[in-house]
Amino acid sequence: MEFHDEDHAAKLLRAQTHIWNHIFSFINSMSLKCVIELGIPDIIHNYGQPMPLSNLIASLPIHPSKTHFIHRLMRIMIHSGFFSNTESELEPKYTLTDASLLLLNNHPMSVTPFMHAMLDPILTNPWHQFSNWFKNGDLTPFETAHGLLLWDYAGTDPKLNNLFNDAMASDAQLVSSLVIEKCKGVFMGLESLVDVGGGTGTMAKAIAKSFPKLECIVLDLPHVVSGLHGSHENLIKYVGGDMFEAIPPADAVLLKWILHDWNDAECVKILKKCKEAITRKGKEGKVIIIDMVVENEKRDNESVETQLFFDMLMMALVTGKERSKKEWVKLISSAGYNNYKITPVLGLRSLIEIYP
Ligand SMILES: C[S@@+](CC[C@H](N)C(=O)[O-])C[C@H]1O[C@@H](n2cnc3c(N)ncnc32)[C@H](O)[C@@H]1O
Repeated sequence: MEFHDEDHAAKLLRAQTHIWNHIFSFINSMSLKCVIELGIPDIIHNYGQPMPLSNLIASLPIHPSKTHFIHRLMRIMIHSGFFSNTESELEPKYTLTDASLLLLNNHPMSVTPFMHAMLDPILTNPWHQFSNWFKNGDLTPFETAHGLLLWDYAGTDPKLNNLFNDAMASDAQLVSSLVIEKCKGVFMGLESLVDVGGGTGTMAKAIAKSFPKLECIVLDLPHVVSGLHGSHENLIKYVGGDMFEAIPPADAVLLKWILHDWNDAECVKILKKCKEAITRKGKEGKVIIIDMVVENEKRDNESVETQLFFDMLMMALVTGKERSKKEWVKLISSAGYNNYKITPVLGLRSLIEIYP
């Protein structure tokens, strides 16, 4: 009986810890945001060697009454893998990890702009409306929070427009370098490519730089591409428009992080427009999709959770979802394509080529 009681108490306390952990998961995000806003990764990086706590404190733009809080902020960030502590008897000395290196301001593939957008209240407020959205007729929790769909809101609010475009550009920087390094063959032989929903053109510019003869068009909503000008040097042209209406003809269409924004019916419409664009020139081209293929059984726990986070993000902000291989195959064939090839070389994302 006594043993049973102990077992019961242990279970109860474990359950309570589990709940506490989930209640406070946001503390990981908010501590990360704070550390980046204080410039801590760059300060440690510029120090050039493991940085003692006292030097870190002296370099921070903080009020003198706050200095003794810094080691506690650093402690949770070490726990979550963003810094390591080179033990010293006198005081902690901090170094960067692979994750904080990717947060440096001047890192060409910095993930910091993505953090700034995703943790801005405009994009976190919809989470407070999640259960209300389940009960109302709105298309997204974003709409419940702000009264407009995300893309329309971005068209009326330059702050969100810039935050979002910069976030996408930083991701495109990382993905384009990997795609060009690992999947160069995908672009070989193409004379023209249209990057549909291509944002401010980071991906298209990188592709055009590696394939100087490839003519690249960036199609995005007018508020995204207004004021942007192509260059003759690398054959880039910007077109403001609506991918549901028309897509300029080209040998290939690129859809990076587009289809996960939309539900199946919307994706079928986009893919049909893509098909018109790649077949109009008399030859049969292809569509190159960069998106996640959810494969729980093959992934470690952190990766599974990240894919689930993205799926929920799509539910909160837009009408889309992350898809399993089975769902992708169904979508591709519903849109009238006969062939596909999935190349899983981008971590949580894959490059999917589809052919009419
Ligand atoms: C998730 S972002 C991806 C941006 C870019 N492809 C990337 O991955 O870096 C989705 C993009 O689709 C664009 N978009 C949304 N609706 C669109 C439409 N109807 N026509 C064209 N572009 C659209 C948005 O403005 C945004 O730039």
